[in-house]
Amino acid sequence: MCVCVGAGGVGKTTAAAALAVGMAMRGHKVAVVTIDPARRLAAALGMRRLEGELVRIKPSAFEAQRVSMPGEVWAMTLDVKRTFDEIVARLAPDERTLKEILANPIYGELSSAVAGAQELSAVAKLYELSHEHDFDLIVLDTPPSRNALDFLEAPTRLLGFLEGRALKVFLAPGGLAARLFGRPTAIVFAIFARVTGVDLLGDLSAFFRSLAGVIDGFGARTRRVAALLRDPATVFMITTSPESEPAREAAFLARTLDARGMRRGGLIINRVHSYALEGHSVERVRELLAPAAGERLAARAAANLADFDVLAERDRRAIARLQRELHVAHPLLVPHLDHDVQDLAALARFAGYLLS
Ligand SMILES: Nc1ncnc2c1ncn2[C@@H]1O[C@H](COP(=O)(O)OP(=O)(O)OP(=O)(O)O)[C@@H](O)[C@H]1O
Ligand SMILES: [Mg+2]
Repeated sequence: MCVCVGAGGVGKTTAAAALAVGMAMRGHKVAVVTIDPARRLAAALGMRRLEGELVRIKPSAFEAQRVSMPGEVWAMTLDVKRTFDEIVARLAPDERTLKEILANPIYGELSSAVAGAQELSAVAKLYELSHEHDFDLIVLDTPPSRNALDFLEAPTRLLGFLEGRALKVFLAPGGLAARLFGRPTAIVFAIFARVTGVDLLGDLSAFFRSLAGVIDGFGARTRRVAALLRDPATVFMITTSPESEPAREAAFLARTLDARGMRRGGLIINRVHSYALEGHSVERVRELLAPAAGERLAARAAANLADFDVLAERDRRAIARLQRELHVAHPLLVPHLDHDVQDLAALARFAGYLLS
């Protein structure tokens, strides 16, 4: 299994999809779980209507783009709320409890808003795919997070909450929940409910009552999910651009993964600029272009190419620094492309850089 992690906007989703396509081009059966892909990429992956379901990209779709595809690519976008519901459904002791929980407005809020719910759902999906299907490789995209570490910590943090004393005390008979929902607080809530039409007390107490029934199973599952992140068959592909902020986050992420004994796969450095003047001076390039383009256009084009050289030089230094700091001899470099990556042919080309 392979998890693409990194700062926001660096190309995690693109890299995850490209890795899946590239590995399938080598004959493997691959699943890719993306999170919130750009609309056109989602369409290219065949996910216009089937959000939340694993669908195989039709061989004809690859043929149409002249991509030879001996393997299989299965793709899905992760629907957080739905994944969370599925987990609860599995763990609820009976149909009635399940209905109660799912219909509960507080559950609705909690399942999408609780810190780490999205990250947990992503990892839970990975666990499910690895145990219930026979993929050679599963590639997981991760949510854009301010702190990429959230993703790694979510399962354990949630577990800590579920098994912590606070919740136990809260739910225990005669505990805080019982006292909170007893009188006289109840009277205040009753008035509140009459005035606002929102039965906060009823919702809350029903929620915690039904939650008590699923907590044990939830804890066990979360623990398995946390173990999966440390499984030797799971690698983390740190994805970054050469820019300083994402690169800093990449270095931080690498240290954290190492400290936790989580395995690192290749380091992907995306959107790398290449030298444009190819060793000539700006004046020389202007001279070379002038006969065909005219003086003015030649001057502007040469200046533009010189700007690219500045970016390329900046990238070269950033890459060297990343190699040093992350102890990576051979990072996977992907050039800054002229167009967004949003069809299968473009993904196949992107994969070419990753797997070369
Ligand atoms: N090498 C590249 N050259 C040009 N465009 C690229 C390249 N890599 C990615 N893109 C484009 O950049 C945009 C952002 O990429 P992507 O959605 O993969 O980033 P992300 O890391 O998943 O973002 P988020 O953190 O918001 O989820 C997309 O439109 C994608 O097509
Ligand atoms: Mg993304």
